[in-house]
Amino acid sequence: MSAVTLQCVSKSFTRRDGVQLEVLRNIDLDVPERSIVALLGASGCGKSTILNIIAGLMEPDHGALLLNGTPSDAFGDWRSMTYMFQEDRLLPWRTAAQNVAFGLEASSLPRAERRSRVADTLELVGLSQFADVFPHELSGGMRSRVALARSLAPRPSILLMDEPFSKLDPNIRSQMHAEVLRIAALRDVTIIFVTHDVEEAVVLANKVVVLHPRPGRVRLTRPMELPYPRDPVSPEVTEQVRSLRLSL
Ligand SMILES: Nc1ncnc2c1ncn2[C@@H]1O[C@H](COP(=O)(O)OP(=O)(O)O)[C@@H](O)[C@H]1O
Ligand SMILES: [Mg+2]
Repeated sequence: MSAVTLQCVSKSFTRRDGVQLEVLRNIDLDVPERSIVALLGASGCGKSTILNIIAGLMEPDHGALLLNGTPSDAFGDWRSMTYMFQEDRLLPWRTAAQNVAFGLEASSLPRAERRSRVADTLELVGLSQFADVFPHELSGGMRSRVALARSLAPRPSILLMDEPFSKLDPNIRSQMHAEVLRIAALRDVTIIFVTHDVEEAVVLANKVVVLHPRPGRVRLTRPMELPYPRDPVSPEVTEQVRSLRLSL
């Protein structure tokens, strides 16, 4: 079963000077349920636009978005999807727990249930001890964990990740990759992970979709069948990285 399908999706923007900018052309994408699909491409090739269309924040000009095989009416499915961005977007005046709770505020969950969800999710990302700490007191990696917990607290069926770790140091970044893989195995979640980093795509994804810019098109789709965890310096991974780099 496919969690998300894009069929021949195209999108243009009109620039301020009136010129049409074709951003996506005939994008076909299939994201199987409980898979991790990486969208890999250079800056400006339309990766974030694809996520925005999947999230229902933007309408495609042509083509279709299907969720669980059904045409989506942009609004109806938002509760089952959450977003994690490049910046952690934590609220500085709120504690870690209050930031995680933020994602639940629009929900109708009873207060006690919300509180236990927040505690469970902080525990899931290894931050139980830091529930009452403010963002400025946390390291970059811990802030990233809080942001991950905030996106997991609503128990989304689909998690959209837009270069969420690109500002972290390489070793912290690897730790976050391990966290994502651990959590994806525990939770019933489908992940669409946007990155411009080939190694990150190979280490995480079951399937890598390479995009080409101007306009954004799918260059190739490659299943990644290497067993997890994937060691970035192993010959199997470095070979995949090398061959995908050539296609970029
Ligand atoms: N709302 C918008 N209005 C006009 N142009 C946009 C808008 N959003 C994105 N773009 C343009 O579309 C192209 C693709 O953007 P984006 O999807 O953010 O790419 P990526 O995430 O791969 O870096 C860029 O050239 C960007 O400037
Ligand atoms: Mg982007």
